[in-house]
Amino acid sequence: VRDATTITLTGAGGQIGYALLFRIAAGEMLGTDRPVRLRLLEIPQGLRAAEGAALELQDGAFPLLQDVEVTDDARVGFDGADIALLVGARPRGPGMERADLLAANAGIFGPQGRAIAEATAPGIRAVVVGNPANTNALLAAAAAAPEIPAERFSALTRLDHNRAVAQIAGVLEVSPAAVDGLIVWGNHSATQFPDVAHARVRMPDGERPVLDALAERFGGVDAAHTWLDETFLPRVARRGAEIIEVRGSSSVASAAHAVIQHVRDEQLGTDGRRTSAAIVSHGEYGIPEGLVCSMPVVSPGVSGSDGGYRAVEGLALDDRGRALLQTSVDELVAERAAVRDLGGR
Ligand code: NAI
Repeated sequence: VRDATTITLTGAGGQIGYALLFRIAAGEMLGTDRPVRLRLLEIPQGLRAAEGAALELQDGAFPLLQDVEVTDDARVGFDGADIALLVGARPRGPGMERADLLAANAGIFGPQGRAIAEATAPGIRAVVVGNPANTNALLAAAAAAPEIPAERFSALTRLDHNRAVAQIAGVLEVSPAAVDGLIVWGNHSATQFPDVAHARVRMPDGERPVLDALAERFGGVDAAHTWLDETFLPRVARRGAEIIEVRGSSSVASAAHAVIQHVRDEQLGTDGRRTSAAIVSHGEYGIPEGLVCSMPVVSPGVSGSDGGYRAVEGLALDDRGRALLQTSVDELVAERAAVRDLGGR
């Protein structure tokens, strides 16, 4: 059994927090050989809900759970953290413009980035879930510089990735485990680009590119592309809205599951398998440097200060793919421009 890992969860009194905490305590995120310490960071209005969750965690009598602390003080909350799950965010209120939303969240993620730089353990990894996740991650990373390399910050697009895999598996009538190599590019928003161009699928009669399998399913390459453009892409990009419409509440359990997978893959490694995560661009695929943009990634695992997600480079994008990625990148550039000078110190 290893030393305990300290995990700080912001928004711990919220919906995703409630769905996440018990799975972390059960060892589903880091493995059943890693004891965990949980720090639940909330704003004053959320403290009672987080305290309630802490009582229930106690009642789970989880063998791996060493300690739970609830606080509304960011310095206390991030003290010694090895992993930060930044879930708490300011939701869009009635009549709130996108610019107001970005500004309100800059007021959260800038200071949290500073607190992360000042209080966490040297190997800290932080994933931003709270929306607008990509730009919130950019702000937190900027505020945590220069102490913490920007590469230690990422934003969650694994839910989008899983949604895309599930749609492909559904239409081809195979298990999601048979679909490999799909990519979600861009922003965690309706402009995202779920890309099957490099994906492969294991069909009962053999393995092949997803595009070939779709052409067989729909009776031709053109029909496959029509399905991708008119059904698949909008379905995946607007799945969050569909869930709200059907369920009457936003995605919670599927989001928490994606957080578990995102952190597990980053920490323990992907074994060379590609997945999607929003990471800081170094200019890969022409994505402007410094943007937090979803792209194909692998992780060798985290050891001390090394490892974590890195971009998979060299995958070809055709004209359609380039144009779709560019639309999402343009949105990220506009978000960055809107928050510039707001976050930081
Ligand atoms: P929720 O409203 O149930 O919970 C959010 C919690 O965060 C509340 O308890 C609130 O008090 C707390 N909070 C707000 N500001 C905080 C701060 N400065 N410090 C600490 N805690 C703070 O919302 P839910 O459903 O848990 O969703 C959380 C976020 O995740 C939302 O922004 C949502 O849009 C986003 N989301 C992102 C997804 C992704 O794939 N990236 C998927 C689904 C949700």
